[in-house]
Amino acid sequence: MHLNQETLNQNLAGKFIGHPLHYYEEIGSTNDEAFRLGMAGAPEGAAFIAESQKAGKGRMQRIWHSPANANIYTSILLRPKFETARAPQISIAAGVAVAETLDLYCPGRVQLKWPNDVLIDGKKVCGILAQMKISGSAIDFVVVGIGINVNLNYEQFPKDIQDIATSLAIETGREISRLELIISLYENMAKWYRQLAQIGFGPVKEKWLCLSPMIGKPVSVMYREEAVSGKAVGLDEDGSLLLTAGNKTVRVSAGDATILKR
Ligand code: BTN
Repeated sequence: MHLNQETLNQNLAGKFIGHPLHYYEEIGSTNDEAFRLGMAGAPEGAAFIAESQKAGKGRMQRIWHSPANANIYTSILLRPKFETARAPQISIAAGVAVAETLDLYCPGRVQLKWPNDVLIDGKKVCGILAQMKISGSAIDFVVVGIGINVNLNYEQFPKDIQDIATSLAIETGREISRLELIISLYENMAKWYRQLAQIGFGPVKEKWLCLSPMIGKPVSVMYREEAVSGKAVGLDEDGSLLLTAGNKTVRVSAGDATILKR
């Protein structure tokens, strides 16, 4: 079913995330639009949804495939009162919120891959791109961009990612209501963001570690042509992956991680 502003407003009225809700038939990137309105003073909790993106952005300058009327492309504007070093905790919390939401559709099959890819049976179903604006030493705002493959079939994925990406429809064998998915995603995001603000990183980190198949395994993290390898042992307070190599612990703050088969 096609989403529309009125139905989204009716369902999100009074919620912390999704109010106000900015809906677009087509846009360049919901992250760019959220950033632009964040600069203009849009409030915490504002959310942005597009049916399609002409210039969807992925991590590490990649393109996010954003065809019309099938998926979720959303950005959420947050104004946390944290020190800047804690900002990556928000995208880790977003990964946990997405995983918890998708687990309703595919129980026990959803996992998180550092830093915040969401996988179903090892295939990527969602990507998260967080961008922030800093004022001095404080966070002005964070834009959390979430792309979920919902009702795409195998042939609708670009050929080069057909075997490493998936959608909820492929995994469940049925069409999924994007409206219901958005409502529970925003609720879960609000819940985990509140945990971060009120309790700290502990509960988010604990849930993330439970959902990550990497912990305890040998992994390699590739960043700008350089690979760092070691056993994944945890997550640092700034969202970095902790690896042990020999008797050293190494912190990795960016890159693409792969579990090594030995
Ligand atoms: C990744 O590379 O895994 C992150 C992908 C993030 C895609 C989402 S779709 C909604 C929001 N707007 C964008 O341009 N990107 C994010």
